[in-house]
Amino acid sequence: MNFKDQTVIVTGAGSGIGRAAALRFAELGANVAVADNNESAAAAVAEEAGHSAIPVVVDVSDSGMVQKMVTVVVDTFGNLDVLCNNAGFGAPGNVPEIEEDDWDRLMAVNLKGVYLCSKYAIPELAKTGDGRIVNTSSYTASVGIRDRAAYVASKGGVSALTRAMALDHVDQGIRVNAVAPGTVNSPYFDKMIKESDEPGTLLNELNSRSPMRRMGDPNEIAEAIVWLAAKESSFVTGSVLTIDGGTSIW
Ligand SMILES: NC(=O)c1ccc[n+]([C@@H]2O[C@H](COP(=O)([O-])OP(=O)(O)OC[C@H]3O[C@@H](n4cnc5c(N)ncnc54)[C@H](O)[C@@H]3O)[C@@H](O)[C@H]2O)c1
Repeated sequence: MNFKDQTVIVTGAGSGIGRAAALRFAELGANVAVADNNESAAAAVAEEAGHSAIPVVVDVSDSGMVQKMVTVVVDTFGNLDVLCNNAGFGAPGNVPEIEEDDWDRLMAVNLKGVYLCSKYAIPELAKTGDGRIVNTSSYTASVGIRDRAAYVASKGGVSALTRAMALDHVDQGIRVNAVAPGTVNSPYFDKMIKESDEPGTLLNELNSRSPMRRMGDPNEIAEAIVWLAAKESSFVTGSVLTIDGGTSIW
């Protein structure tokens, strides 16, 4: 895979899966916009990625910031070829428990953020005649899990929006796909394990979700994101690729 002279935006690139994807794109020759609402994390990953990467501070739920992100990237690199809508977070709770403000915030980042970034990136992606969008959904969108109602609903929306956008923009040469990761050992879970009263039990529970008896590594998801953005997947659009070590089949 080769991304020389191509420009890629990865949102949520300051940590975990997004960081791994940004570093891999840079390794394969892309100009990379490391976009995150955590300024120092974005700066650190951009530095790690090398001279062809820039940090961009953006809250993906903020229309003005998203528009500015696209403008800065195109002004800096001259084009935009790939958008990876990866920023997102999880939160516990079933429907009666989840506060309305928490529901709104989660939807604003996980689902509206995908809409906003795509809305302002698509005109630029269309100019290349070969634009690509890769969204980060979740295996939970298709199987459901307990105590994560808002999160599961938001990712169901991301998977559905992936298919809708794939059809809407196929004639502009834009391919739209998603990855649906299983439980991945990102800093989010690292922190959760460290702060747990029983870290060993929690680690065991997380590993036991998959018949492989382990969590995924961010690099294992990043590799699929990069492939879906590469010319090697040129006949793939509207797909949601599950990468969960078999979690959703048992
Ligand atoms: N880790 C998992 O097990 C797992 C499983 C399935 C799906 N996912 C999805 O993968 C994506 C990345 O998750 P991760 O595990 O790498 O998490 P992470 O917490 O390690 O990284 C997420 C990054 O997104 C950034 N971010 C959060 N809100 C933002 C906003 N409003 N605007 C811009 N950036 C924002 C954070 O600052 C952070 O750097 C998320 O969409 C998540 O839902 C994760």
